[in-house]
Amino acid sequence: MGGAISRIGRMLKGRGWSASAGRKLRHILSARQFSKKELDLILRRAAEMERLMRKKGFTTSLKGTVMATLFYEPSTRTRLSFESAMSRLGGKVITTENAREFSSAAKGETIQDTIQVVSGYADVIVIRHYEKGAAEKAASVSKVPVINAGDGPGEHPTQALLDLYTIKRDFGAIENRKIGMVGDLKNGRTVRSLAQLLQHYPGVELFFVAPKELSIGEDIKEILKEKNIPFHETECLEEVLPLLDVLYMTRIQKERFSSEEEYERLKNVYILDSAKASTMKPNSIIMHPLPRVGEIATDVDDDVRARYFEQARESGVYVRMALLDLLLG
Ligand code: CP
Repeated sequence: MGGAISRIGRMLKGRGWSASAGRKLRHILSARQFSKKELDLILRRAAEMERLMRKKGFTTSLKGTVMATLFYEPSTRTRLSFESAMSRLGGKVITTENAREFSSAAKGETIQDTIQVVSGYADVIVIRHYEKGAAEKAASVSKVPVINAGDGPGEHPTQALLDLYTIKRDFGAIENRKIGMVGDLKNGRTVRSLAQLLQHYPGVELFFVAPKELSIGEDIKEILKEKNIPFHETECLEEVLPLLDVLYMTRIQKERFSSEEEYERLKNVYILDSAKASTMKPNSIIMHPLPRVGEIATDVDDDVRARYFEQARESGVYVRMALLDLLLG
């Protein structure tokens, strides 16, 4: 384990790490920052964390360290799994309830000023914000690593890492998988981050299923083209289901719509139920970053291919333990 940490430390030198307060510092802001080697190390480290958790349930490797969670947007999984991960590594958590309302942001304080102060209270800051680019803004003034836990419709890199881990756990390899991403691909930050990570895996073929109004961004398509990752766009879920190894459902993101009517028109555009799931391959898997709001019917929950609860309950904690340990260990 120690060997893996010193290897990643050596490897990341000169790739965005800088000395601060005697510690190597690196922020986690975007899926595009990772090389394939770094992804391999993170996934290996997460597997070590999974073994450790199954055997012992906790470690004290981060005893004495403090993580601050600043969530300006609602969260169940990301915040609690980060807090669980830090607790299981022996560290402590400080937090503010609903940072948008109960931190001094409500009095007009800028995010930069908040971070300058909070980075004196903690060894790492996990931030979720409603504005794209907010985590980068935070990192630009932070004295400690900043982890982007979702910045508006921008990115959600740690979710994408746990999605990758879930796929690897099932198939052993991520290469050569046919992966369908369904729903609000325009505003879905998990999809944007996951598609960027998948550029590192040869043989991957992507199927983007979305209404025209919610199609995947041109920036993501450019990245995939550059890396020769084939992708297809369609509005028809039924036509891709039998082809897929991985079905990645997402919700239509109500909070990103300016028109209630437009949301109402699109919210139920794709619903996976057991009848539709029966057209999928027997060894495929069904994923969702959650929360779901009806796009996967509850009659799919007992399907042996459903991974969405396991994805959040297990992969989320192991991957976030790995990331904290690699940043601070
Ligand atoms: N997947 C995810 O980001 O969930 P939360 O919004 O509950 O954190």
